Amino acid sequence: MNSPRFNNFVNWILARFPLTKVWNEHLAEYYAPKNFNFWYFFGSLALLVLVNQFATGIMLTINYKPDSALAFDSVEYIMRDVDWGWLIRYMHSTGASAFFIVVYLHMFRGLLYGSFKKPRELVWIFGMLIYVCLMAEAFMGYLLPWGQMSYWGAQVIISLFSAIPIVGEDLSLWIRGDYVVADATLNRFFAFHVAAIPLVLVLLVFLHIVALHQVGSNNPDGIEIKENKGPDGIPVDGIPFHPYYTVKDIVGICVFIFFFSVVLFYMPELEGYFLEHANFIPADPLQTPEHIAPLWYFTPFYAILRAVPDKFAGVLAMGGAIFVLFLLPWLDTVKVKSIRYRGGIYKKALFLFVISFFGLGYLGMQAPTPSATIAARLLTVVYFSFFLLMPIYTRWEKFKTVPKRLTSNSSIGDRLPLIKQAISDITQDTVVTTKSGKTLHLKTPNPSGLRSASVDLAKKMKDSLD
Ligand code: HEM
Repeated sequence: MNSPRFNNFVNWILARFPLTKVWNEHLAEYYAPKNFNFWYFFGSLALLVLVNQFATGIMLTINYKPDSALAFDSVEYIMRDVDWGWLIRYMHSTGASAFFIVVYLHMFRGLLYGSFKKPRELVWIFGMLIYVCLMAEAFMGYLLPWGQMSYWGAQVIISLFSAIPIVGEDLSLWIRGDYVVADATLNRFFAFHVAAIPLVLVLLVFLHIVALHQVGSNNPDGIEIKENKGPDGIPVDGIPFHPYYTVKDIVGICVFIFFFSVVLFYMPELEGYFLEHANFIPADPLQTPEHIAPLWYFTPFYAILRAVPDKFAGVLAMGGAIFVLFLLPWLDTVKVKSIRYRGGIYKKALFLFVISFFGLGYLGMQAPTPSATIAARLLTVVYFSFFLLMPIYTRWEKFKTVPKRLTSNSSIGDRLPLIKQAISDITQDTVVTTKSGKTLHLKTPNPSGLRSASVDLAKKMKDSLD
């Protein structure tokens, strides 16, 4: 590729398009803090899943029919008759859940290290807009297979709009395009799912990254590396994103693909968590399923909706639970960013918030019972208190001194002996004799080793936050 012709071609392009400039500014000369850890994998993984959703979504659209009389059968046709159709469909449905897992972990990293704080408020706001779009995208996509859950899930959620005073009924009619969820609804959801929202999503992801690169990345210490530059103007604690983090991200991508493939090939429905069982039954407007529940990523908000006795107040609480996240940069005004240097109050509050999120997520999947409703109300209070009481409880926090320079991470070489030790602790040597009389030396799990390793791990996780 070093022929004069090729070089001329490259120069012709570069004279007309700022390829080198973009490459340098955003990769080769984008200086990122040198202490990125596990939590910094999820941005690039979100990009990977976005690409997966686009590629598989386009392929599904080739054989899918957005017509209420044909939609369900067209999905079955994709699963049974289209070459590799099952793989494409499962990559898309597993990708949807993977998207939310990755994005929730990505957002949680923001809470750990205060990545939403000055000067990254806009990065967070664009992220939140992405999250709302992602929810709309997933909700509309779920109607497309036209199964029982698609149909009744959409019916329940759209009818929520009718709780809004005065305009509610007209609004839900306008969204549906009919008096019940019907062909008109399917057609417009298809248009939004495959064209309108993906375009907005791509634009928002672009803005998210542009905003991030304007201010630079935060890091697990929450120290601004730009405040400590060398004589060459380069942050002393920064390393070029390429090749250092491109290579690191490739490791994360390989691990992600491993787990993704395990789900994809061995448990694509994941016991109904990724694809609900009732959605393998064609939509029947005359038969309501016994228990209507959204997919797992919506259930914390669904539980908040059900926890409030009044329908309109429930809708407001559900919307408020998402809206309050937008306000985070102005609710948490503490200057210390990283949880490493924050006081116990924030750590405990964050822990309770996580419990409330998981608890609500679980309750949102269950049929409502009186005791479950009480639990959901309690957890809703905890959820909102984390945000709304933040300006108060953070006033009492005692902080550790934040160092001037980044603290170093131990290298993989340092950790290797510990990893080896951990593996030998959780396994034991077992000798097995087969039916044919052969003796096999196997490594089997060691229950007591596993128990003490779990306790150790929990302790280490706690210590890593201190
Ligand atoms: C399609 C979804 C998304 C994509 C593709 C995406 C992509 C990225 C990438 C590539 C980075 C830089 C690498 C990293 O720090 O991990 C980043 C950083 C960031 N993202 Fe996202 N993101 C998405 C959604 C979100 C959401 C929903 C939020 C929060 C509401 C968010 C908040 C942030 C913040 C605060 C940072 C800066 C983190 C730091 O510097 O510590 N992102 N994002």
